[in-house]
Amino acid sequence: MEKQTIIVLDFGGQYNQLIARRVRECNVYCELLPFATAAETLRTKNPIGIILTGGPASVFEPDAPRPDPGIFDLGVPVLGICYGCQLIAELFGGKVSVGPREYGKKQLTTRKGDLTDGLSATSVCWMSHTCYIETLPDGFSVSAKTDTCPVAAMENKARKLYGVQFHPEVMHTEQGTEILRNFLYRVCGAKGDWTMGNFAAQTVAALKKKIGDKKVLCALSGGVDSAVAAALAHKACPNLTCIFVDHGLLRKDEAAEVVRVFRDEQGMNLIAVDASDRFLSKLDGVSEPEEKRAIIGKEFIRVFEEEAKKIGAVDFLLQGTIYPDVIESGFGASAKIKSHHNVGGLPDVVDFKEIVEPLRDLFKDEVRACGFEIGLPESIVMRQPFPGPGLAIRIIGPISREKIKLLQEADYIYRDEIAKAGLTRDIWQYFAVLSDTRSVGVMGDGRTYDYMLALRAVTSVDGMTADWARIPYDVLEKVSTRVVNEVGHINRVVYDITSKPPATVEWE
Ligand code: XMP
Repeated sequence: MEKQTIIVLDFGGQYNQLIARRVRECNVYCELLPFATAAETLRTKNPIGIILTGGPASVFEPDAPRPDPGIFDLGVPVLGICYGCQLIAELFGGKVSVGPREYGKKQLTTRKGDLTDGLSATSVCWMSHTCYIETLPDGFSVSAKTDTCPVAAMENKARKLYGVQFHPEVMHTEQGTEILRNFLYRVCGAKGDWTMGNFAAQTVAALKKKIGDKKVLCALSGGVDSAVAAALAHKACPNLTCIFVDHGLLRKDEAAEVVRVFRDEQGMNLIAVDASDRFLSKLDGVSEPEEKRAIIGKEFIRVFEEEAKKIGAVDFLLQGTIYPDVIESGFGASAKIKSHHNVGGLPDVVDFKEIVEPLRDLFKDEVRACGFEIGLPESIVMRQPFPGPGLAIRIIGPISREKIKLLQEADYIYRDEIAKAGLTRDIWQYFAVLSDTRSVGVMGDGRTYDYMLALRAVTSVDGMTADWARIPYDVLEKVSTRVVNEVGHINRVVYDITSKPPATVEWE
């Protein structure tokens, strides 16, 4: 059965991925596409509705981005958000002008309408605009306003056109989810067929059909994406082989956990390669972060290639690509701050016929939900994001086995205390960093000259920006006391209180 689809056309606003995620959270599948996507392309996707996002342009600028006018003839409802709302107003004969500006929380007063059905008469919404709809186009009515914005929501029921000037997708809009649900369910007739249970069942069936008993190979990193992709494929394909390369720079006990879960519990055909000697000898004496990344990336590919050669030609290479990777490689370009290592080079060294990417439609939170759905344990499904080069970029300066051991133990204590304090789900990423600095301390009446450990913890949505987490002092104190007492050769613990930007999440 074909799933119902909403198309979100991207006009460059900062919350656009969030819109798509909110729609999915309402159990409706949606795809984010560039604003200029041809109406005919959209028709082939058979959408039940279209959403036009916000964006930085003003509709009356000569080169303001506009959709293919044909999208309004597809016979499906259209919702414009912020810039998208102003576009609809302008395209249908209304007038958009500069000011009054609104930023942040505003009191919204609603009137009767499709989008506002069941909402309380007043609530808080989140605004971010410099232009406003001065004159409503013919056939439209106002369904919400604020004291400074006469058209905060509008609709033309006959033509199935809707718009909101505020952002229903952000948390600060109190009734945002209800508004989106009204559009999806009341206006577009959504059935709510996008659930991770459906997704898992359909994906396993599709993999069975496509791959059957042919040979498929997967690089398992221990991260949630490759884990869920492999576990889905394992349910469908008897000839799946997974290769796990242990570079010796994982967190304490992590390599053993991967083997335990995937080989012992899931019963997968897992080749676990302990390549730590190779990686560590290549990294000997290397301090520069980008050089560390390059060495690890290259060595990873080499080890994988050697193992893959032993298996010989395969039919499929399975990869854990997820939707944000697809969106990011599809549109937009940003400055390179760090060269993030992933398994991007594998297709060049494996003899395969086709790549399969069963998760390419999923956001991260959906990947996790799918992982739980198919019975993977919390330790894998809720694993924090972990950089490909691992602890190599959390040990500042040259790396040694001794330093890796120190950091693993200290990081383990930190994670243990965060878990005991019940904070694991509130903090996006938390880890310890072993600095290259040594300082003087005093223990048992004697002088020490040992390493300084930094604790890092951030809240974030996607790692692009991050704020330092306000961990209670007593938790930090417990970590500090335990680390200094239990680990050895660390006599000072500091807490990093920098956000990103200007810092980055990792120290290297
Ligand atoms: P930064 O340090 O760039 O981190 O603010 C943002 C997110 O990316 C992760 N990260 C990496 N992931 N290879 C990866 O696969 C890398 O080289 C790498 N460097 C940073 C980081 O852990 C955080 O989640």
